[in-house]
Amino acid sequence: MKITAILLAAGQGTRMKSSLPKVLHPIAGQPMIWHALQVIQRSTTEKPVVVVGHGAEEVTKYLDDSAQTVLQEAQLGTGHAVMQAEALLKGNTDLVVVCYSDMPLLRGENLQKLVETQKNNRGPISILTVVADDPRGFGRIIRKADGSVEAIVEEYVATAEQLQVKELNVGGYCFDADWLWDALHRIPKNPQKGEYYLTDTVKLASKAGLPVQATVMDDLEETIGINTRVHLSEVEAAMRRRINQEHMLNGVTMMDPASTYIDVDVKIGRDTVLMPNTYLHGKTEIGEGNLIGPNAIIRDSKIGNRCKVLASVLEGALLDDDVDIGPFARLRKGAHLGNHVHMGNFGEVKDSYLAEGVKMGHFSYIGNAQIGANSNIGAGTITCNYDGEKKYATEIGEDVFIGSDTMLVAPLKIGSGARTGAGSVVTKNVAENTLVVGMPARAIKKWKEKRKSNNVDK
Ligand code: UD1
Ligand code: CA
Repeated sequence: MKITAILLAAGQGTRMKSSLPKVLHPIAGQPMIWHALQVIQRSTTEKPVVVVGHGAEEVTKYLDDSAQTVLQEAQLGTGHAVMQAEALLKGNTDLVVVCYSDMPLLRGENLQKLVETQKNNRGPISILTVVADDPRGFGRIIRKADGSVEAIVEEYVATAEQLQVKELNVGGYCFDADWLWDALHRIPKNPQKGEYYLTDTVKLASKAGLPVQATVMDDLEETIGINTRVHLSEVEAAMRRRINQEHMLNGVTMMDPASTYIDVDVKIGRDTVLMPNTYLHGKTEIGEGNLIGPNAIIRDSKIGNRCKVLASVLEGALLDDDVDIGPFARLRKGAHLGNHVHMGNFGEVKDSYLAEGVKMGHFSYIGNAQIGANSNIGAGTITCNYDGEKKYATEIGEDVFIGSDTMLVAPLKIGSGARTGAGSVVTKNVAENTLVVGMPARAIKKWKEKRKSNNVDK
């Protein structure tokens, strides 16, 4: 059986007061429409169709090949919107699931239930409803004396009696496709707004004596539709609670879930502890037994096991195991810190690899560099990697000791076991086991003997 979803996303979203199309506003790091696509995934078998209108170009560009799109040029109502998909889908699907793309909290399971209900329905429609005390402006479900669904009445045309009805139209439908394509052409134009309401298909079916089934939900939160930025923040908060809860149930400790912000795609291993004010964004992956925060902002980064990240900002970084950074470390794109690397306060690393055991305690900038195992980067060291036009590389060997306040003028290679004196400006390559000092730095020959007599390295 072929089941295709149609997501409605053509409305202007006027009440958002935004130049960004409503369905592209992010929730937990992904646009609203992304969430809608996740929700429908498991209950459908075919590629979804998104009806676009306002901001069509931007929305279509975002969707790329995750969905097919059809254009609704004038927004003449939800029934008219679905009609735009007829040419594409007629004869190609058995069931049609219609959802609005502004309700990202809806759980996929409820749509699956809806589809199951329709599969067992000898009538042409099943709908999602919710029973709630707060009607939130939703359409009311009108039932006949025998309990079957008769109509959906929009709030603004409902009678006083109908307004008392607590069963509401969520905005999720499953139709028999052949019946739907025909019925859409029979929806009357709404006299008040001149629109064609999808909800009026219910009346068409019930008048013809065809049963309309309802899958009744009990969680009002799932049904929140976003019309304003107030709703957006409600949904963001609810989504965050949901994400955090899942991580906690999977073994992550959160000292303060209310100040812990995790995007939908983030992965976290067990026994990792998240301290307050932690932000985990994008495609971040965190292993087991880490201590993150307080005050960590981490985006698109990968962290191994048993690391400590205190009050630091990471973007596009890779930490192996037992790495200890912060407070106030900044890792930018391409920063890779090997096992047991220690990076203290006010350091910045970009496009560089710090091999196992490297120590960089204070105030340094390392860019476009490779640093060998167990080397020590003294306070205030800077890789001068940019001459105003191009970036140049710095290569530092193993067990190197870079003295405080050393300027490493790239391109530059420093051999293993070498040392630089405090305040030196290194402009030429340094051979292995050689000490250089001064500005520009010069090699001091046989530094091992000299070191004994002058204690240069202290
Ligand atoms: C709709 C339902 C209402 C339900 C509520 C749940 C109708 C007539 N009413 O009301 O019963 O309780 O949702 O949230 O369906 N859209 C288009 N093209 C159009 C018009 C709308 O694509 O011409 C899209 C919008 O972008 C939006 C969705 O359809 O994603 C719903 O439209 P909206 O105007 O928000 O409907 P509601 O008044 O909220
Ligand atoms: Ca709405």
